[in-house]
Amino acid sequence: MIWVFDAYGTLFDVDAAAREAARNDPALAEIWPALSFDWRRKQLEYSWMRCITGQHGDFWQVTSDALDWAAERHGLTDTAPLLALYRRLPAYSEVAEVLARLRERGQTAIFSNGSPKMLSDAVNSAGLAPHLDALLSVEAVGRFKPAAEAYRVVTSHFGTDADRITFVSSNGWDIYGAAAFGFDTAWVNRAGLPVDRLPHRPARILTDLTGLL
Ligand code: LAC
Repeated sequence: MIWVFDAYGTLFDVDAAAREAARNDPALAEIWPALSFDWRRKQLEYSWMRCITGQHGDFWQVTSDALDWAAERHGLTDTAPLLALYRRLPAYSEVAEVLARLRERGQTAIFSNGSPKMLSDAVNSAGLAPHLDALLSVEAVGRFKPAAEAYRVVTSHFGTDADRITFVSSNGWDIYGAAAFGFDTAWVNRAGLPVDRLPHRPARILTDLTGLL
């Protein structure tokens, strides 16, 4: 078995940077949830826009640009602490244990829009490196998910057909792209959201990663 995981929102808690920054900055106390929501929303939007128009910039660029936009919207001037926290987002509580147990039965990898440096920083800081066989980034092809060329990074790396890969993501749009490419899919619906109205439905819906066991 080969399990391949999206990174942000699936293994790593993308709200943790703003939540943590708010502990030391009273100005963030009330606005951090909206700031975090806008940051993530713009980060994804910018990645899709750049992909559609062929204007690639890596995910750190996109993440920084999205934070700039969100900061201006919410009247925040100093974004440096938030970016520093984004480099070492914590993993959700069940992640290390689930990865360790899956790895006893097969291979595990991350496949993310994140740049290689972002992924290695996050994995090392969360202590996940011993539980992962590979960190795969779309930077290998310079196109973001959900472009088919991006998902091909995974099949090329493992030298296998798409249907041998179980792709796990908390992002409905990523599950859509992965299913369209031919992966077996598991949607981690941490937020209890409705299924996206797109042509492919997730093969499995989980509330967290323990459902994979
Ligand atoms: C990832 C983001 C987009 O690819 O969730 O890790």
